[in-house]
Amino acid sequence: MIQKCLFPAAGYGTRFLPATKAMPKEMLPIVNKPLIQYGVEEAFEAGCNQIAIITGRNKRSIEDHFDISYELEQEIKGTDKEYYLEGIRKIMDRCSFSYTRQNEMKGLGHAILTGETLIGNEAFGVILADDLCLNEQGMGVLSQMSELYKRYQCAIVAIEEVHPSQVDKYGIIQGEKLENGIYQVSSMIEKPSIQEAPSNLAIIGRYILIPEIFDILRKTPAGKKGEIQITDALQTLAHQGKVIAYQFQGKRYDCGSVEGFVEATNVFYQRSQNAN
Ligand code: UTP
Repeated sequence: MIQKCLFPAAGYGTRFLPATKAMPKEMLPIVNKPLIQYGVEEAFEAGCNQIAIITGRNKRSIEDHFDISYELEQEIKGTDKEYYLEGIRKIMDRCSFSYTRQNEMKGLGHAILTGETLIGNEAFGVILADDLCLNEQGMGVLSQMSELYKRYQCAIVAIEEVHPSQVDKYGIIQGEKLENGIYQVSSMIEKPSIQEAPSNLAIIGRYILIPEIFDILRKTPAGKKGEIQITDALQTLAHQGKVIAYQFQGKRYDCGSVEGFVEATNVFYQRSQNAN
């Protein structure tokens, strides 16, 4: 059972400047809820009640969001506005939150390694909150992966098919199909050109990782863009037969890009209107 989920949230978020100048992009709201809260709700649904967050320079707003705001709560007590805080209260009552700071932005792999002290020696989920995932029909993506972990007991990456012109934006896997939507990964490559790409199966921001990854990350040199890439570290595990890729049920919105963010906003707004 996966109980801990790590949220790397230390990136610069340059595609959202100037909004992200003094605020992490994970705090950008889709309708009225910040991206990171959607992610924490997905983790909680998957059975994780220990939330570990890697923050950067502008960490305060994330910590404050998952903390009690006495003045505000007093102000709206007994009014119909209390309804707006029900979701976040539920999460705060049932989850513990821990934080550590990534002092240098040396990439996603480095951010995950920074989380070692919060995770310890057990398998854990990783959610990149700017990949917002929605499965209208059933379980959230991390729940789906957690179920799979029970069977396979190895690292799992969530994948989706992308247009060949988009492969240079993702980690791309090469693998052999084990069953419908599940691949044994033999290798993976970060942001390949169309010519280099072994497939169009792209890794998105959901992982289940095993603690061996930390030692591998420590030894992983900086790769593309001078950053320590999680894909490079996973490649070592893949060679040992310890990585599977899972084509998840649901839809992902790339809220790290303005286009994906606007699309998600429209979809989630429509959903909120239909629910009323
Ligand atoms: P991105 O590749 O989207 O980078 O990071 P970014 O810096 O956040 O955004 P842009 O490209 O400049 O607009 C993917 C995830 O990894 C985290 C980010 O917060 C995001 O959740 N990350 C990235 C870190 O925590 N630390 C890093 O050094 C890099």
